[in-house]
Amino acid sequence: MKTVPKDRKLDQSINVLREGYRFLPKRFAKLDTDIFETRLLGEKVICLTGEEGAKLFYDKEKFQRKGALPKRIEKSLFGENAIQGMDGDPHEHRKLLFMSLMTPEKMAKLGRLTSEQWRKQAEGWKNQKNIVLLEEAKIVLCQAACQWAGVPLKEGEVKKRANLLWAMVDAFGAVGSRHRKGRKARVNAEKWIKELIENIREGKVAAEEGSAIYEMAFHRDLEGNHLSTQVAAEELLNVIRPTVAVAAYVAFGALALHDHVEEREKVKEAQGDYIERFAQEIRRLFPFVPFLGARVRKDFMWDGYSFEKDTLVLIDVHGIDHDRRLWERPNQFSPERFKDWKGGLFDFIPQGGGEHYTGHRCPGEWITMEAIKSSLEFLTREIEYEVPSQDLSYSLSRMPSFPKSGFRIQEVEFK
Ligand code: HEM
Repeated sequence: MKTVPKDRKLDQSINVLREGYRFLPKRFAKLDTDIFETRLLGEKVICLTGEEGAKLFYDKEKFQRKGALPKRIEKSLFGENAIQGMDGDPHEHRKLLFMSLMTPEKMAKLGRLTSEQWRKQAEGWKNQKNIVLLEEAKIVLCQAACQWAGVPLKEGEVKKRANLLWAMVDAFGAVGSRHRKGRKARVNAEKWIKELIENIREGKVAAEEGSAIYEMAFHRDLEGNHLSTQVAAEELLNVIRPTVAVAAYVAFGALALHDHVEEREKVKEAQGDYIERFAQEIRRLFPFVPFLGARVRKDFMWDGYSFEKDTLVLIDVHGIDHDRRLWERPNQFSPERFKDWKGGLFDFIPQGGGEHYTGHRCPGEWITMEAIKSSLEFLTREIEYEVPSQDLSYSLSRMPSFPKSGFRIQEVEFK
């Protein structure tokens, strides 16, 4: 039996917060390994990287999600009863609910709504000096997501709701006030959506069959029961919250267009494929999810290493998307690399790996791509703008990350 290489013995939680996206990759490199053991939040944790590590992590016989998420993440980002912590048949059944929303027609609708909302939002830019794209994208995507999901929004309410949804995402790598803000946002958002679900169930508010809100309100679990209002609300938030989070990718997309002048023309003139590759490269290169966790279901051996029941195991999401063995010049922005990509399930995992239907891989990948692509089309084909001097850097220690200035534009001209 081989011994798992060990990081320093002291608890490393503080260094995760300090080093963010670099925490795992730095240690894999230092120990020259694809597996090491460390301590986080007072417990032993095994960390994995590489394509083989991802394959292992997504083996459902060996791992479960129950008990893998820290309470602080459930109370801010995901909710305490949502799909992220489920396993087995109940998980697959719940997953079908999400996957049923991702038809090509529904994705096209989301794309259309996103484009329309950009146009509408941009009407207010005519006399505005500084436009912060990250903030604008939150509003645009909140409008589009709510409209798509069937969540009614009152005029004047959008910004408040967008900020609420964003605050839950913004809390995931934080302690202190940013984390508290995320928890508070979750309490408020759940209250808002629970009321709505109740009203729909009682027929006080109309909902279109097939819309996310309708499907969440009337979904039946494996025992034939409706979800509790609490769970239905958490799952509906699991659709609209991450759609607003795509705003970070939109800001990174604007940054990539700015840094690579030649790309702007290509995206502008592109037919479907090139924008697709550009959007994929945004998801690969720029940081979002640092790592994911699961617990060992029962003792097993892998590659000569012993994994004991209940051990927490982390997979190095950001590191795998930048792994030199998988990606040539991984830190370079190069959409063309996706021309030859074989569509592997474990080498490109910004939104998780493995299968969508049977595993935990993100059901929102198509929404994410649609939202990024529609936003890029708007930015390259419908407007021209100047990018004033500002801090366009982004941090690899702050989680989540985005361009520090939020990406400001000015002198917007409409084509
Ligand atoms: C910024 C864009 C997004 C990122 C970076 C992202 C990332 C992820 C990641 C890493 C996972 C976990 C995969 C795993 O546990 O193995 C996940 C799961 C999930 N995502 Fe996304 N996601 C995004 C957008 C979306 C959107 C637009 C939706 C809307 C439907 C969505 C809904 C979900 C749900 C419901 C799960 C849980 C799936 C399960 O446990 O089976 N995400 N996402």
